[in-house]
Amino acid sequence: MPFKSDEFLNKVVLVTGASSGIGAVTAILFSKLGAKLSLTGRNIINLEKTSQDCENVSHNKYKPIMFKAELTHDKDVENLVKETIKTYSKLDILINNAGILETGSIENTTLEQYDRLFNINVRSVYYLTMLSVPYLIESKGSIVNVSSVNGIRSFPGVLAYNMSKSALDQFTRCIALELASKNVRVNSVNPGVTLTELQKRGGLQEGEYNNFLEKSKGTHPMGRVANPIEVANIIAFLASENASFVTGVNMPVDGGRSVAGLR
Ligand SMILES: *[C@@H]1O[C@H](CO)[C@@H](O)[C@H](O)[C@H]1NC(C)=O
Ligand SMILES: *[C@@H]1O[C@H](CO)[C@@H](O)[C@H](O)[C@H]1NC(C)=O
Ligand SMILES: *[C@@H]1O[C@H](CO)[C@@H](O)[C@H](O)[C@H]1NC(C)=O
Ligand SMILES: *[C@@H]1O[C@H](CO)[C@@H](O)[C@H](O)[C@H]1NC(C)=O
Ligand SMILES: *[C@@H]1O[C@H](CO)[C@@H](O)[C@H](O)[C@H]1NC(C)=O
Repeated sequence: MPFKSDEFLNKVVLVTGASSGIGAVTAILFSKLGAKLSLTGRNIINLEKTSQDCENVSHNKYKPIMFKAELTHDKDVENLVKETIKTYSKLDILINNAGILETGSIENTTLEQYDRLFNINVRSVYYLTMLSVPYLIESKGSIVNVSSVNGIRSFPGVLAYNMSKSALDQFTRCIALELASKNVRVNSVNPGVTLTELQKRGGLQEGEYNNFLEKSKGTHPMGRVANPIEVANIIAFLASENASFVTGVNMPVDGGRSVAGLR
């Protein structure tokens, strides 16, 4: 493992969308590196599994606190921050990972879809970050934001998703500037297609999923998709002291996809 085992000793880390995929793997990595975790997700059974995994790999056998949270509900977000502070008395690192992807073009994206995407991908991140910032200033903490590739299902025609993404990229850069003088760093990772169970759970049949992965090999110059741990490692790096002078960055973790042209 490329990390010191006490890299995040007693740091308090809040991870949203921790019940599966990149969020779960990231939570487990931070736990292994000594952190105390506050986890949220919508699937309580999976969240409990992540939590158990975290406890198992924690040297101090720290047990995460867990919230079955609907981040579009303001009360849930408020409760999440309140309980995290009540339990741990501080917050060092915020990992904004929850998010959704839905398809549709200007011709067929309904307002309901638009609202859903913006509420989950933008508004809830905004509110959670807003409530966390006072504590992050206190701890000189950091924010790492993860792209919302939770249920990749198609390529073109993801209009509302793309709009929510650019809103958030601008958000990352703006708050990085706003918080720089207060020593809070804000960065994001931009994963390419990442191997998780989510695509299948999102309704793709086995065959369709394999086709999707095959096609993805062609769009990622390194000829494969990402393993979630490869994304989690970069999240940990950006949150760590090693990245102490890095802020306002959107870091691709995509085997070269973002620098390649269409082919
Ligand atoms: C930070 O760098 C040190 C070596 O300088 C290394 O041991 C450690 O694992 C790095 N941590 C992270 C999170 O990158
Ligand atoms: C965690 O450890 C417990 C006890 O050692 C074990 O029973 C359980 O299977 C482990 N859970 C996971 C998810 O690894
Ligand atoms: C929306 O319309 C586009 C063409 O504009 C089409 O390619 C796509 O399949 C449609 N998507 C849905 C979800 O109906
Ligand atoms: C959405 O964004 C991705 C990546 O930034 C881009 O490749 C794609 O062309 C965009 N799609 C649409 C419909 O704008
Ligand atoms: C985080 O960065 C990713 C990739 O650049 C982007 O898709 C996402 O919307 C950003 N979210 C925030 C909160 O900045």
